[in-house]
Amino acid sequence: MTKIAAVILVGNAAEAERQARIALGKGADLVELRLDEIVDLGPKTIRHLAKSLGEHAIATNRSPGQGGAQRRGGAPRSALMKEICGQRFAYVDVELEEDGAGLDVLARVAHDHGTRVIVSHHFAEAVEVHRASETLEACAARGDIAKVVTPVADFEAAIQLIDVARVRTDRPRPMILIGTGPAGMVTRALADALDQEIQYASWGNAAAPGQLPLATAARLRGREPIILGLVGHPLGHSLSPLIHETALAALHLPAVYLPFDIPLESLDQFLLAVDRLRIRGFNVTHPLKESLSQRVDELDADAERLGAVNTVVVQDSWTVGHNTDVYGFRVSLRALGLRVGDRTALVVGAGGAARAVVHVLLREGASVQVTNRTIARAEALADSFDDLVAVVPMETLQRAGPWDLLVNATPIGMKGAVAPGLPVPEAIVAKAAFVYDLVYNPTATPLLQAARRLNRPGTSGLDMLLHQAAKAFELWTGQSSPFDAMRRAAKEALR
Ligand SMILES: NC(=O)c1ccc[n+]([C@@H]2O[C@H](COP(=O)([O-])OP(=O)(O)OC[C@H]3O[C@@H](n4cnc5c(N)ncnc54)[C@H](OP(=O)(O)O)[C@@H]3O)[C@@H](O)[C@H]2O)c1
Repeated sequence: MTKIAAVILVGNAAEAERQARIALGKGADLVELRLDEIVDLGPKTIRHLAKSLGEHAIATNRSPGQGGAQRRGGAPRSALMKEICGQRFAYVDVELEEDGAGLDVLARVAHDHGTRVIVSHHFAEAVEVHRASETLEACAARGDIAKVVTPVADFEAAIQLIDVARVRTDRPRPMILIGTGPAGMVTRALADALDQEIQYASWGNAAAPGQLPLATAARLRGREPIILGLVGHPLGHSLSPLIHETALAALHLPAVYLPFDIPLESLDQFLLAVDRLRIRGFNVTHPLKESLSQRVDELDADAERLGAVNTVVVQDSWTVGHNTDVYGFRVSLRALGLRVGDRTALVVGAGGAARAVVHVLLREGASVQVTNRTIARAEALADSFDDLVAVVPMETLQRAGPWDLLVNATPIGMKGAVAPGLPVPEAIVAKAAFVYDLVYNPTATPLLQAARRLNRPGTSGLDMLLHQAAKAFELWTGQSSPFDAMRRAAKEALR
């Protein structure tokens, strides 16, 4: 079973020891003591740390060329490394390049003390997979465990690394092969499945981009991993990872939710790889919702009606597309006690979210009008609903209404969005009895602030987001979602 090492990156030996003990108490099998971070590292400190933590520690003295802070090179480094190898640690990390000349001597000294030798190499830039593979073999030839770390630029590079690790699992020398960065997270999540000797987990600040937090790594340990995630391109900030990680942690499921930044041209390859990567399901975001609806094996009724998928379930290579935005909006209306049957609604926007909203409102029996910046898009939306929807140009809104419900299905008002302000003038907001803003960040959107000024009740899109996430979670895991925990985490993040 892969051992989990919490990486301890602090500048002071006493603090490193204190943090290490807490991490070991929180489920780490090992701690990686980043000795290079400790100011004025000397024999006394090394001996003390070996005595107090050695049997649970990897001693690492990372050089600057390998991403570390140990500036002592040449003879001073050799002396330090000899001191480290001369103590009893569970593992010592020796660098293929920096320590190459004296490596055999260091290994002998370490073995005399019962310490296993990790020979490592960290690439600063992404490299071709054959170079990573050759370097892994070079490390394996010199140590007990071979470790290679390389940045991966995209999902395809991560798959190549995984394939290298997979064909290597029958070799006698254990290995650690890690892709760093968001695209490389899957190489870490599959550490156990790939028989990696050690999973380096973050404790406090991540030592390398993409490291899984200790709690997540501990949840996966020794269990068949379930990979979930968010697919889109580019992946902007999303609350989905936080919401799903909270749910997975609350139920202690052996699963992880990862970012998959997949451009359209890589989508087919991603779908071909889902099984190999143990991906059980994923959410879909801009701009892939429609493209995926054409590529999955099966669609549920809502996804088929809208031609858009925001959740995919994978089972035995069979992909089923769902549209849980529809569910999320419908359930949130109920939760708010909003009855829209025989009522009037104005939907602002004509994109994917607007279509999900219109679909629900029509099904509930509302009379729906749509307005949009690009009127042709509103007309296309109306067309696809057999003209059950009336299109109102923005310029004539002042003559339309009043409405029982106004829904903003544009990003206007969203934090960081290019368009601040209101999706329609305040005089139009005044003609609505209830205001539903699909935007949820900030919680008090400009539109909801306008509604408050006008004494109109309203809601943000947070409940819709949470209900759609809850549905996706249930589809993937077959378990009821811990809704309150998910809501608390999202609200906390939005504060
Ligand atoms: N709460 C939730 O669970 C939830 C779920 C899904 C979506 N959403 C939110 O809903 C919003 C729309 O998502 P979507 O997937 O429908 O996006 P989309 O398919 O890209 O559609 C965007 C819509 O907004 C309009 N728009 C964009 N920028 C505009 C601007 N500067 N001025 C006027 N109109 C503008 C577009 O008009 P044009 O046609 O003229 O380009 C289009 O109608 C997003 O903010 C998203 O975060 C929330």
